[in-house]
Amino acid sequence: MSQTIRFFLNGQAQDVSVRPDMTVLDWLRNAPRLTGTKEGCAEGDCGACSVLIGDPAGEAVHYHAANSCILAMGQIDGRALVTVEGLKGEQLHPVQEAMAENGSSQCGFCTPGIVISLAGLAAQRGAARAGLAAANGEANDNDIHDALAGNLCRCTGYRPIVEAARKVLAAGGTTIAGPQVAAFERIEPHATISASGSTFHQPDQLGLLLQLRKERPDAILLGGGTDLGVALADYHSDWDEVISLAHVRELRAIRETENHLSFGAAVTWEEVLDRIAGFYPSFATLIRRFGSTQIRSMGTIGGNIGTASPIGDGPPALIALGAEVELASLSGHRFLPLEDFFLDYRKTELRDDEVIASVSIPKPKEGQEFRVYKISKRYDQDISTVCAAFSIIREEDQVRSARIAFGGMAATPQRAGQAEQALIGTSFDLKAIKACSAAISAQFKPLTDWRGSADYRLEVAANLAERFWRDVAGELVEVMAL
Ligand SMILES: Cc1cc2nc3c(=O)[nH]c(=O)nc-3n(C[C@H](O)[C@H](O)[C@H](O)COP(=O)(O)OP(=O)(O)OC[C@H]3O[C@@H](n4cnc5c(N)ncnc54)[C@H](O)[C@@H]3O)c2cc1C
Ligand code: FES
Ligand code: FES
Repeated sequence: MSQTIRFFLNGQAQDVSVRPDMTVLDWLRNAPRLTGTKEGCAEGDCGACSVLIGDPAGEAVHYHAANSCILAMGQIDGRALVTVEGLKGEQLHPVQEAMAENGSSQCGFCTPGIVISLAGLAAQRGAARAGLAAANGEANDNDIHDALAGNLCRCTGYRPIVEAARKVLAAGGTTIAGPQVAAFERIEPHATISASGSTFHQPDQLGLLLQLRKERPDAILLGGGTDLGVALADYHSDWDEVISLAHVRELRAIRETENHLSFGAAVTWEEVLDRIAGFYPSFATLIRRFGSTQIRSMGTIGGNIGTASPIGDGPPALIALGAEVELASLSGHRFLPLEDFFLDYRKTELRDDEVIASVSIPKPKEGQEFRVYKISKRYDQDISTVCAAFSIIREEDQVRSARIAFGGMAATPQRAGQAEQALIGTSFDLKAIKACSAAISAQFKPLTDWRGSADYRLEVAANLAERFWRDVAGELVEVMAL
């Protein structure tokens, strides 16, 4: 058991003894006094606290932006942490230089976080350009907007910032000055860190995780911490005992078989996005709107299911795709259709000694059409008012099977059974869609809250069936508003 957390801070190895549940933001600002990292919202929304986290990936160190306000110190054990102060060497980092030259630097709260997010994007593009990481084509404005979606400016606007980013990317991206892959051997993650009454377990195998889970049913199971970290930061909750899933090999695995894609529960949304885009482009569009790059690089697919929120974005899409969830304990593994996992508001099938181990998604079948729509007040970085997913398989112009699922319409993510029946056996015409919409209106009794009234939710949900029909008919193109 270690009393210290070991990591690289701006390239220098550190051994720090603090409670592992202290936020990285609090530590940065109070101990080394790196106050370039700001506190804005303290709940993962504004990006003022952005830092870069580096992990070895093959021959390169992969850097991504993260929100230090909802990141616990234990989560950076064995990793590299880069703050805005660490970007600059003898000279300004190319992003800093481009921002200064272009007149892009705005208020002192947001600018450091904006620089960090763009430096993360530029490092990823630089690694891709050097052949050290995969790239989906050349970087474009969409990548820049994605990178900035978690950095909220309420004063001036993004145009000069985007222009500065274009310059850096046009020059081929950059690198981050920091430790080489081999150096990470010196800071291997500890199995257990314990300091000042907070204990952080980091098992690296499923067997060890399940043993810990059985012995410590009250310990917090921590995925990426993007849900749990909000409570940590906002309500100053203490985590006396944590079991982190981030290093469990089996939970970090992505497997592909002839008919399925399977994601370990600790796979992040950013990693899911990379793999799902080629199979279900509409799901990829949804994931790009999931929080921000910071949130997607931390938040996991298992955490989205484990949190059992009625407005989580993953479950409706996964249920419509017929995903199955694997629950594991020392007594064995069981597999459930995802819709059967959710029992009631925040109540699930998960037993005290179990963890979510993986989620398996069938690959697209011939004649299948799948779309998922997120309706929210803002395009990026917002929670769904309604999320609707539709999947049909057609054979000889007839709907052979249909799966429809909604978030935001009930206490749990739910399938719309009658609406599915209204489509099966039809030629998928407007009459069938009207019947489908009517069945949706009849099934759900949503709540009114500040995101939308019950009537609004019902109307939107019913109308989305028609939107799906028109999309499949090729009448509408994917637009920014959905
Ligand atoms: C700013 C912000 C924006 C967000 N935007 C979105 C959004 O657009 N759409 C959306 O759906 N969500 C959003 N979220 C919520 C959150 O990011 C997701 O739910 C995410 O997938 C949670 O994953 P995590 O690994 O961070 O979960 P954690 O916070 O680590 O855990 C969440 C819960 O799941 C449990 N858990 C985690 N892993 C497992 C496991 N393997 N087995 C059993 N239980 C487990 C934990 O014990 C905890 O109860 C947002 C959050 C923030 C802060
Ligand atoms: S302070 Fe706003 S995202 Fe962390
Ligand atoms: S740059 Fe801070 S509010 Fe606009």
